[in-house]
Amino acid sequence: MDSQAVENEKILKNVADDIKNGKYKNICVMVGAGISTAAGIPDFRSPKTGIYHNLQKFNLPYAEAIFDLEYFRENPKPFFELAYELMPGRYMPTPTHYFLRLMNEKGLMLRCFTQNIDTLERIAGVPEDKIVEAHGSFQYNRCIECKEMADSGYVRHCIETKDVPLCEKCKGYVKPTIVFYGEGLPSRFFDCMYEDMEKCDLALVIGTSLLVHPFADLPEIATENCQRLLINREVVGDFSERESDLMVLGDCDALVRQLCKYLDWEKDLDELVKAN
Ligand code: APR
Repeated sequence: MDSQAVENEKILKNVADDIKNGKYKNICVMVGAGISTAAGIPDFRSPKTGIYHNLQKFNLPYAEAIFDLEYFRENPKPFFELAYELMPGRYMPTPTHYFLRLMNEKGLMLRCFTQNIDTLERIAGVPEDKIVEAHGSFQYNRCIECKEMADSGYVRHCIETKDVPLCEKCKGYVKPTIVFYGEGLPSRFFDCMYEDMEKCDLALVIGTSLLVHPFADLPEIATENCQRLLINREVVGDFSERESDLMVLGDCDALVRQLCKYLDWEKDLDELVKAN
């Protein structure tokens, strides 16, 4: 077993023991696109496979333009072509998503902060009141001009037929309430952020580059009493700046399964994965 695997095993065993002996009761998870890659949804920045490395066909001025409000106002087509590829209903939750559900069902989850717009946390069975979709999702749709809400069925139909949905009221462009660059995050994010991070005793960061703020502020504002654990392919954000930081590097589904084994949750996890 290589040294990283030995280190991962030691860390995950210790965290599992601390969870089993009741040391952690208010666990906040903070997740990104890395937990949905196994579902078939590419993340954004992984070399070669990341969405931002595969947008050549759209001739964008720069990759993030696909989520830029001003660019969308000029040319909404690239976003809707990407939306067609990312739209919920085509993908199933991963073992990591079911681990999040188990965390809640065992009474340990304070909040699940996600940057993902795929709603796979909801589909996996994490209850809505525990989820903060910091970058919005496909769940709701609104006109970018008059802010009138639009029917989701109509928007889904437009995405599937490669049309651009228009507002019934003002004929402006309609888009899912996914947070674009240039837009503010939902107020729910800020309402939960400060309150939850005061109480959080284990901050579990999984599958994110922690490059986009204010989401990436979450682990940074964790109190000194909060244990931070990173499960990711590489070290990100300000992890390793705190002496107490724990980092297990590798594939999130494999590492989460290992954690479930030490928690004696493996049977529960398998039942959820198999049942769906
Ligand atoms: N297991 C563990 N880590 C993984 C896996 C995996 N199977 N797959 C990818 N990762 C890691 C990558 O190494 C990277 O560190 O997950 C991280 C994904 O980072 P990004 O692609 O930047 O995705 P994310 O952090 O969610 O992006 C944040 O950027 O453009 C915005 O709004 C967009 O919400 C998105 C935000």
